[in-house]
Amino acid sequence: MSLIDRFEKAALYLTGALIAVFVFSLIYARTRLNQEVSECVPFNKAYLEPGIHRIDSNTYQIYAVASMWRFEPSEIRIPRGSEVDIFLSSKDVVHGFNIARKNVNLMAVYGSINKTTIRFDEPGKYEVVCHEYCGIAHQNMHTIITVQP
Ligand code: CUA
Repeated sequence: MSLIDRFEKAALYLTGALIAVFVFSLIYARTRLNQEVSECVPFNKAYLEPGIHRIDSNTYQIYAVASMWRFEPSEIRIPRGSEVDIFLSSKDVVHGFNIARKNVNLMAVYGSINKTTIRFDEPGKYEVVCHEYCGIAHQNMHTIITVQP
């Protein structure tokens, strides 16, 4: 067996092991740590209409739409203790959606809807930034989620 074959075999084993670790981590986070894992939902044009929908006293759905170079709705206010489903899409290129101090890191992709659920127990302002380079004004693309006491 040549040296290259040995390296190739080692690389394949390492790749397989890493994939196993990633899949295990995902399942562990979802089942044992009860972490919400983001998901794709079937595309529907209704999600491109930005808005905040109140489902009940502490459940909200946010249809967040990214475009060059802003997020809509431009202002998000929710009460403390809210559980929020975020449905994220883009009107043009790929954008990012990262909520500071929260474990939320989504990609906004044209023609698809990414969803995650998050709970806001601490009042305050949560900055949302675009973390995917999306053009000349990428660095200005941010919004704020205000959690009211
Ligand atoms: Cu949008 Cu960077």
